[in-house]
Amino acid sequence: GLMRELKGIDVLELELKHRLGIKKVIIVPGNADESPFVKSELGKAAAACMKKLLQGENIIAITGGSTMAAVAEKLTPETEEKKLLFVPARGGIGEDVQNQANTICAIMARNTNGKHRVFYVPDQVSTEIYQSLIKEPDIEENLHLIKSANMILHGIGDAITMAKRRKSTPELLSRLADNQAVGEAFGYYFNEAGEIVHKVLTLGIQLEDLEDIPHVLAVAGGASKAKAIKAYMKKAPASTILITDEGAAEWLIKG
Ligand code: F6P
Repeated sequence: GLMRELKGIDVLELELKHRLGIKKVIIVPGNADESPFVKSELGKAAAACMKKLLQGENIIAITGGSTMAAVAEKLTPETEEKKLLFVPARGGIGEDVQNQANTICAIMARNTNGKHRVFYVPDQVSTEIYQSLIKEPDIEENLHLIKSANMILHGIGDAITMAKRRKSTPELLSRLADNQAVGEAFGYYFNEAGEIVHKVLTLGIQLEDLEDIPHVLAVAGGASKAKAIKAYMKKAPASTILITDEGAAEWLIKG
């Protein structure tokens, strides 16, 4: 893109990191909206970043989505010194099988010679069911693992796109539109100011838990996600590393 020619990508990365108030930004060339190759480059960059950060024993919490699936494809075997356990960060939040955290964790474990846990909890549980589910021994154990993760890898999406992909009710869709939701991450929907306008009630990582996780990697690209990234980054922990593409970064720098 034009920006890349005018300024080095490393300059953009620093500028964006300061602007968003996070630990680090990695930008891959191109725009994921326009080419599947760019999404797989995001995956490659995220996989390389993960590898650098992991040492010894690790519990890695993962969210769903096609970008996380692209990361899984780019992971390669680890040697004996590193032990990796992949766990879904949150209970099912309405994704197709290939985009579910359970599936992605299984692929990540297979590709790294690691292990994974499955975490099957229904979508959008009622408060009552939620209260009884957390007392189930299997679920309790998974929740304990999730909360002790030393790394989390997550996607960010456009709010309305995500709400539709999750087949949300017309009521929720119009509520999100009324509240000008622009971004989504972990089942939380944000407006441009970074305020939470809706939250999917499910088990697992809650936004406040992110503060305790040493390595937080957000992977999201495409110009269509720029607003979502900006909104979510208002809430993101300062330890966040953002892996994005030029398509999103150019808008974020201009905005
Ligand atoms: O549903 C899981 C999730 O990580 C969302 O939190 C996020 O908005 C979305 O997937 C990203 O999906 P994709 O990478 O396919 O755009």
